[in-house]
Amino acid sequence: MSNGQSSIFQGLKDSVLGGLFGSNSNVSVGVDVGSAGIKVVVLERVGDAIRLKNYAIAKSKDDIIKPGTSGVIGEIASELIEKTIEEAEVSKSSVYAAVPSFSSLITAIEIPRTAKKDIDEIIQNEAPKYIPVQLSDVVYGWQLIDEGGEEDDENVIPGVSRDGKIHILLVAIMREISSQYEAVFSAAGLKIESLEIDAFSLARALVESNRKPHLILDIGHKVCNIVAVSNGNVLLNRTIDIAGDRITKTIARSLGVDSQRAEQIKHKEGMNAGKSKGGTDMVSQVMDTVIEEVKKTNRAIGKTYEGIEISEIVLTGGGSKLVGMVEYIEKEIGLETRIGDPFAMINYPESIQPVINEHGSELVIAVGLALNAFEDRKNKKR
Ligand SMILES: Nc1ncnc2c1ncn2[C@@H]1O[C@H](COP(=O)(O)OP(=O)(O)OP(=O)(O)O)[C@@H](O)[C@H]1O
Ligand SMILES: [Mg+2]
Repeated sequence: MSNGQSSIFQGLKDSVLGGLFGSNSNVSVGVDVGSAGIKVVVLERVGDAIRLKNYAIAKSKDDIIKPGTSGVIGEIASELIEKTIEEAEVSKSSVYAAVPSFSSLITAIEIPRTAKKDIDEIIQNEAPKYIPVQLSDVVYGWQLIDEGGEEDDENVIPGVSRDGKIHILLVAIMREISSQYEAVFSAAGLKIESLEIDAFSLARALVESNRKPHLILDIGHKVCNIVAVSNGNVLLNRTIDIAGDRITKTIARSLGVDSQRAEQIKHKEGMNAGKSKGGTDMVSQVMDTVIEEVKKTNRAIGKTYEGIEISEIVLTGGGSKLVGMVEYIEKEIGLETRIGDPFAMINYPESIQPVINEHGSELVIAVGLALNAFEDRKNKKR
């Protein structure tokens, strides 16, 4: 093992699934480059069913992504991606990948009711107001947000809201960042079939969890990603660079232990970690800033989307496994809170249920990415 790679673990061997799942067609591969590790999910579509074919997680001691440097992937990424792909026994060379939300732009904009054919031109004119860099430096696109308002028959605009306006989500990724991802994947021998913003992968992976408006809170290693979603549509998004790593560092500093020991304490004691010493509630102090961001997102939804009310918080990401986190968030935000299940609509052998329980939250973006492949193919057929 080299370049700071600490472990590659788990993965379903073909012997477990080969006999069960048969043919190799319709296979898709999602690769999530997280700040603490690479996660790969391989899904297979057989008829209408989607099955987990394999997965692998590789953790790194060194940071793979550095927030605050607009998503610069560290040099260790290529080798680690290659090893994780190998571990997942993937024979394909084209994969689905995501850039972190903090290195991209997702903005909700509003335009007056208009004919569908004219929207593109309106967006071309409006985009410079919202994208703070030269348009030639970004790849950008837009989508209508279907708020379940009345459909305009004449123009077939599903995005018309209850207040008669059209809500549109404008998304942009810096070309520099997409080129960087392409180069890192290419060095790992892979082609990126499609690169999306990870907020969309989260929404897709957890769509079956709740079709009513809700907030997904992905508590990762370096970043918490808050995504407002309704019926699978992303409505808004905010990120904050406080997450699992900050909790570990706070425990280490307060208790005077190294980070490895602090990580163990965090896993064992959860929200109570370090509480006994001096009585200060360290973990909740770190999480309070995150809670504030969640509340801000909730208020922003009320302002941007008339009539939309967030009913629930769906937690995911490795940090959501912290003992007592669900209860803490529920109490602080005052909304029903639970852990999302990215495998709700995916078949897998019963024997790996414990693995799914343990690692499902970390695999959520890779699941969403792999599912994107099937949506893509569906769209291409049209
Ligand atoms: N049982 C647990 N209790 C508490 N924290 C945990 C547990 N298991 C994992 N974590 C934390 O989850 C974090 C890793 O989560 P995840 O894999 O979602 O991050 P990532 O996707 O690599 O990071 P990011 O999304 O910030 O780029 C680490 O900080 C780890 O300490
Ligand atoms: Mg993550």
